Amino acid sequence: MAIHPFSWQSSKEKQQSYKKASSLSYDRFWHHEAMRLSWKESFHQVHDGTFAGGEWFLGGGLNASFNCLDRHIENGLGQKTAIIFENEDGFVKKYSYQELHRLTCQIAHLLHERGITSGDRVAIYMPMNPQGIASMLACARLGAIHTVIFGGFAKEALIDRIHDAKAKAVITADSTKRKGHTIKLKDVVDKALDDTKCNSVETVLCFDCETLASDSRYIRFVPTDNWAEKVREPHSFDAQHPLFILYTSGTTGKPKGIFHATGGYLVQVASTTQWIFDLKDKDLFWCSADIGWITGHSYICYGPLLLGNSIFIFEGAFNFPSAARLYQLIEQHKISVLYTAPTAVRMLMAAGEEYKGQHDISSLRLLGSVGEPINPEAWSWYKRVLGEDRCDIVDTWWQTETGAIMMSAVPDIDTPKAGSASKAFFAIDAEIISEQGELCKNNETGYLLIKKPWPSLARGIWGDQERFLQSYFDKFPGAYFTGDGAYFDLDKDIHINGRIDDVVNISGHRLGTAEVESALVAHAAIAEAAVVGIHDDVTGQRLVAFVSLMPNVEPSDGLEEQLKEQVKNCIGSFAKPAAIHFRALLPKTRSGKIMRRLLRSIARGEEVKADITTLEDSSALTTT
Ligand code: WT7
Repeated sequence: MAIHPFSWQSSKEKQQSYKKASSLSYDRFWHHEAMRLSWKESFHQVHDGTFAGGEWFLGGGLNASFNCLDRHIENGLGQKTAIIFENEDGFVKKYSYQELHRLTCQIAHLLHERGITSGDRVAIYMPMNPQGIASMLACARLGAIHTVIFGGFAKEALIDRIHDAKAKAVITADSTKRKGHTIKLKDVVDKALDDTKCNSVETVLCFDCETLASDSRYIRFVPTDNWAEKVREPHSFDAQHPLFILYTSGTTGKPKGIFHATGGYLVQVASTTQWIFDLKDKDLFWCSADIGWITGHSYICYGPLLLGNSIFIFEGAFNFPSAARLYQLIEQHKISVLYTAPTAVRMLMAAGEEYKGQHDISSLRLLGSVGEPINPEAWSWYKRVLGEDRCDIVDTWWQTETGAIMMSAVPDIDTPKAGSASKAFFAIDAEIISEQGELCKNNETGYLLIKKPWPSLARGIWGDQERFLQSYFDKFPGAYFTGDGAYFDLDKDIHINGRIDDVVNISGHRLGTAEVESALVAHAAIAEAAVVGIHDDVTGQRLVAFVSLMPNVEPSDGLEEQLKEQVKNCIGSFAKPAAIHFRALLPKTRSGKIMRRLLRSIARGEEVKADITTLEDSSALTTT
């Protein structure tokens, strides 16, 4: 079998290349990294010099699906394992690169036959399975822009996303299974399509559905190997062509449709996968996210497949029926690199290390963390129990908007330490600034900014460039505002404290408190709602809601349940508040702003010492 051209043969060789790469200028570095991809048309300029919406790899043309599949087959890797899939019932199926290519072309052919073409938006509402990944690659093959909607989102969230993207097709499956429960995905799509806001949808492609509505929009997945020319020989698309839209929560009620452009996104995703995970032919990489989130886009689908690596994916919860499942999976499949969220680590820690039992997890060589700050206790436990003190931990900081990893230790180069995402990746210029715009000293917390553009920076918010500029570029002109608080320690290693805005992180799921508030006030009994995130030992943060009721409505347990149901139906189960407090009035400043800091203290059960006449200061860096 052909050896992947980018793998280093030894740590020494990697260190030498690192040294060389570090000495390159900004443009030369990204030019060098772009050579990890196959370009149909060469680019003539690395970057146009603009920050917001700036173009990368100008004049370049490529096809993402070709880069993830065809080129590996042409290089003799057709029989190499692309995906090992297992579901909660223990059903296992392997896909070689050849087989994944075939599945992708089969889906692309059906989409093409239904008139899906370059620039059309396709919503993907699928289980965490190979068909979901192949659906993404099938869209990319045709130049269609995919928007994956996490299977945990409810009908209303699906409607909003389909409507905002004006999706022409939806790809779904009968159901998925999690913790023994069946979740009927297609039923949610059926209900969403009854809404006139989904009138843009002309095709619904369904996997594994026994019964389909007699609606001409619906088609079944029927495999064919008689592919249209456009599918067999995929076109190349301009490097600036949008590859996908992914909705993420902001500080206002409406999620933002973050979109990424093909060339820049793929270059940085391939580059970071290579430098940070350095997957060899014998490696099996398990990124335990879902394709519905950016981590799944960049490090389940595009990163590893661009580099011809082998991935493991699991449909279900790896702590079901018990925490032993995770150790069992690592042993059974000989997983060598695990990339997961601190919440998962804390959950395993809370379950107890006895679940590890006699499982042989010596195949593991590297552990990754992503999505939220990892507390030192969880870090040490991760290193000792899963890493058996043998594996390094890479704590990787990035965002939906950054597209790819921005800060992380690089194995063989840096020595990672608990609680730190080490340092910025090559050519990434991170700074920590005080409210007054001054550089923070070491150990001083401030706003994390990025001062120079990078290739996988999102190109915008779908249909709302103004909001894009406002959200990320207005607060500190000339820099990208991350929304996170952070500090550099005395070694200049970075520590991320988390969000400083009204975005919370629950089990690694990003959620705007305003979204939950909108769901609550949509209930007839509610006059006003305020939602805050407070610390939780396992899930990182949890939501606590404060609501005031309409006249003549009385608080009750039944109403509390109804409100939780309301949030579940509008957003999804994961967004349900852990507690709802009924209040006659919500505490406000004289100018009418809800005093969130005060509510956070109340939610934490603290004695309220704060002067409640003080304005809630947006500049205050929160400690939760
Ligand atoms: C927010 C972005 C990056 C993919 C998953 C989440 C937080 C992310 C870390 C980390 C501390 C982290 C930040 C960031 N975050 N990684 N290693 N340490 N915090 O993507 O949903 O766009 O959320 O997740 O607060 O702003 P996302």
